[in-house]
This record gives sequence, structure tokens and C-alpha cells, in this order.
Amino acid sequence: MPSVLQLTDLHLLSDPAATLKDICTRDEVTRVFAYIREGVAARRWNFDQIVITGDLAHDEQRETYEVLREMLGDWLPNCKLMLGNHDSRPFIREVFPELASNELDFFTFSCRVGEWQLIGLDSHISGEVPGELGQRQLEWLAEELRLHVGQPTVLFVHHPPFEVGSAWVDALGLRDAASLLELATNAPQVKAICAGHVHQDRQKNIGNLQLFTTPSAVVQFGVNSEEFSLDFIPPGFRILHLEGDIFRSEVVRLP
Ligand SMILES: [Fe+2]
Repeated sequence: MPSVLQLTDLHLLSDPAATLKDICTRDEVTRVFAYIREGVAARRWNFDQIVITGDLAHDEQRETYEVLREMLGDWLPNCKLMLGNHDSRPFIREVFPELASNELDFFTFSCRVGEWQLIGLDSHISGEVPGELGQRQLEWLAEELRLHVGQPTVLFVHHPPFEVGSAWVDALGLRDAASLLELATNAPQVKAICAGHVHQDRQKNIGNLQLFTTPSAVVQFGVNSEEFSLDFIPPGFRILHLEGDIFRSEVVRLP
């Protein structure tokens, strides 16, 4: 059964000792990667693909992507990267040229894992916190869904296409969420949409479509909070189990 590991919101910084909300993101990502590798060695989990759903870097520095490239090591051939609001599209393209998927000006992927199609979207708007896919990308997605009709599909996008119940971050969401959801709900092959951005584990179902947000690999935000707040629970990631055409997933948090 194919499995996919979703990591999100690493917020790496070029200075190895730099912190975000008093957490050294470099150390925390190192700890999370080590924990995942330990789990693979102990056969607690395995995965065919890693998808990192944006906010890879917090400082939009080229060096930060070089650090990430080194940290990924032997995972790189099975890894897909996506842009978050904090990322730099030019630097990701430069440091990960093999992942720059198409000639279009957005940074997306569409790949097959077992019987499943995984499609990563690019909701980054340069200089802004909210996200948007835009008409051309939505048309590209519609075409991908047509090409792979009948194949169970998971979509990934940094900005969640649903409100998670935290007013401050819901105001910074995906502007064309309605268009994305219309496409997804009209394509019954799309089983789930996995997002990041909100640094918390949330879920919503629309009919048979499952929508998720996944905890950050570093800093957690308070759930159901009107204003920005932190949650002092361990970082985590999501493991997607793709069996037949059934989508299941679980969040794993570090001890
Ligand atoms: Fe983030």
C-alpha cells in the first residue's frame, strides 16, 4: 500500500542559531527528520513520497534552500517541494532545478504513486501572506484532473481552502478557495486536499472530500483562537495511507 509523508511549515532560517517564537527552527527540523528516519529504520512507518507543503524557508534566502537541500539528503529523489507565503519562487527554482516542474510561472507537480495521482499546487503570491492559485493554474489543474480521470487523487496546497476556526489566520487564507473546491467536488476522483499554513491539525469533510491541515514541523498555533496564539505541543507530520481508492491519514507528533 503506498504511503506519503506530508511535512509542512519548516520555517528554516539561514542563520543556524536563529529562532522563530523562541524555537530554533534548524534544530527542530533536524529533530523531526531524525525522528522520521528512526521510525523508518524501526519499521514503524515507511513512505514512497515526501511532500513538503510550503513555508520551507522563513527568510527567503537562497542559503536557506541550500541548507534544506543538504538536510533532505537521500530523500531528495522522492521529495516534492511546494511554496508557502514565506518562500521565494526564484530561489526554490535555482536550488532545486530538478523540481521546477513545467514551463509555467507557477511551481507545481503532478506525479503518480501506485494507483494514485498526487498534485501539488502553488498558492504563493509574492509579498503577501494570503494565497491564490489564479485562473491559469486552476485551468492547468482542471486539465490534470481530466488527464487522470478515474485515478484516485490527492491535492496539496499551502493555504487551506477552508476556514479552520481561527479568525486571524482564516483572514489570510486561499482567496480562490471556492474555485478550487468547485473543481475538486466536481471530480469524484479527488479524495483529499492536504494543506499547511495554519500550524495546527484540523479537518473538514465536504461530502466524500476530506480536507486537512497538518501541524508545523516547528511551531504550533493555538486552535480556535480569535487572535494569534501559540500552542505548546510537539511538532508533527501527516502520513497518508493510500489503499485501493480509500484515503486514510494520521498525524504523528514527536514525543
Ligand atoms: Fe507557516
